[in-house]
Amino acid sequence: MMKSRKPNSLHIRLYGDKTLREVAKPVTEFTEEINNFIDNLVFTMYQKDGVGLAAPQVGRSLRIFVVDPLWFNDEGNKNPLVLVNPEFIEFHGEIEKDEGCLSLPNIFEPVKRAQMVIIEGLNEKGKKVRYEAEGLFARALQHEFDHLDGIMFIDKVTKLKRVFLKKKLHDLQGTTDENGRNIGEITL
Ligand code: NI
Repeated sequence: MMKSRKPNSLHIRLYGDKTLREVAKPVTEFTEEINNFIDNLVFTMYQKDGVGLAAPQVGRSLRIFVVDPLWFNDEGNKNPLVLVNPEFIEFHGEIEKDEGCLSLPNIFEPVKRAQMVIIEGLNEKGKKVRYEAEGLFARALQHEFDHLDGIMFIDKVTKLKRVFLKKKLHDLQGTTDENGRNIGEITL
């Protein structure tokens, strides 16, 4: 089927935004609006050079995220995976690696994650999907899933590291408006 609609770029919410700290709600219906939103989420992830993007990061408190951990090293071939209402089934091992987040620009810190995971959820069509993931894929799934529970990777770094990041975080938070919305300073 042909798609006539062009996806839109969505504003990334930054640290300090209240939606980033909410527990997102499950999706109950795959409406056209939700489908369009998912297209926009995928489009925005690539546009911002992200490995993943979760709905709360663009101000929608819904249990949806998209990931594509391979496109950086797969000659730019895009293979976005959509997960709606995901649940982890298994975690195995532990590994510490640097992480970043589009909602925490210019911050990269080591975070401990499971080395291998199994996740289930629904895809963009509402069909049940299951992935066994390792390495960066497993890390991206855990990072994005956390966003659905209002958790950011910065919550998982050591207290000492957070002391050093205090000013950066304070500055990021500073562009939050009176409604708890933080899209930072818009630069074109
Ligand atoms: Ni993130």
